[in-house]
Amino acid sequence: MSSTKRGGQRSPSDNYPTPGWCFRRFLDKFLADHPDALNVGAWLEPGAGEGNLVRTANEWFEDSAHKSPEWDVNELREECVEFLDDLDIREITISDFLDNGDLRHHQYDVVITNPPFSLTMQFIEAALRLNTRYVVMLQRLNYIGTERRHAFMQANPPDLYVLPNRPSFKATGETDSVEYAWMVWDTRNLRRAKGEYVMLSLTPKEERKNDHARVVDLGIFPEPEPEPVDPPSHYPPGMGEESRRLHLEYNKLVQAQIKGAKNGPDVVRLTDECSAKGIILVPGGENL
Ligand SMILES: C[S@@+](CC[C@H](N)C(=O)[O-])C[C@H]1O[C@@H](n2cnc3c(N)ncnc32)[C@H](O)[C@@H]1O
Repeated sequence: MSSTKRGGQRSPSDNYPTPGWCFRRFLDKFLADHPDALNVGAWLEPGAGEGNLVRTANEWFEDSAHKSPEWDVNELREECVEFLDDLDIREITISDFLDNGDLRHHQYDVVITNPPFSLTMQFIEAALRLNTRYVVMLQRLNYIGTERRHAFMQANPPDLYVLPNRPSFKATGETDSVEYAWMVWDTRNLRRAKGEYVMLSLTPKEERKNDHARVVDLGIFPEPEPEPVDPPSHYPPGMGEESRRLHLEYNKLVQAQIKGAKNGPDVVRLTDECSAKGIILVPGGENL
């Protein structure tokens, strides 16, 4: 997920690659706290996108003393396959995670993702129905505090692994407007009274910059959506075509007047029609 300032443009399907450092800081601490997260030896990424979490994990495990888990990944967008194919992955599935019953036949240590923002709760619930020890989701820190999710969060408080640096999910490098945390549910210990709070380490700016440059190089940032263009203020919404037609007529009348035509009554009729339609005539308007 990603949060820009309120009202900012969201990418279709909530496609926001997670910066590598966010996952490295989590792995550093989480696997020290929970070595049992490698017992089964298989992890699932249910909304893998172009695979930035798996890419990061594969490198992290290579440099660590831990044995790497096998990865199964799922993603909605078929175009991600060409990126996922390059990674060390056991099984790639293209499907709607919320509608994929087959995943229930597998056993995992960890189901982990940065879910599409608008489907976060559905992703959490679907992941908790799978055969997994841990469910881990990256979200805004304030995600747990909303009235709508109060009952769930009170009954199933996750452990929070808080990232002290704000991530950037955008090609521009602009950071988010809020901090993020990895929410962790231990499925053997749900419905307990309270979760734990863990502050992850700071990440040096250079490391964050390098991760960002890498994602830019991979070409996996989504194209920015064009900013919506406000309609010109001299005609009401939806009247652009009519405004163009009336301006064409008006400009012809003005040209004729310049050549000596006595067309005053036609101009009055036209301006009356325009004002009835809420269109303000602008001399030379609509570039005609
Ligand atoms: C915020 S992005 C994160 C991508 C990747 N997990 C990462 O961390 O880099 C969310 C991803 O979920 C995918 N997605 C959205 N709805 C989905 C669904 N119903 N089932 C599976 N994937 C979905 C999007 O296409 C997108 O790639």
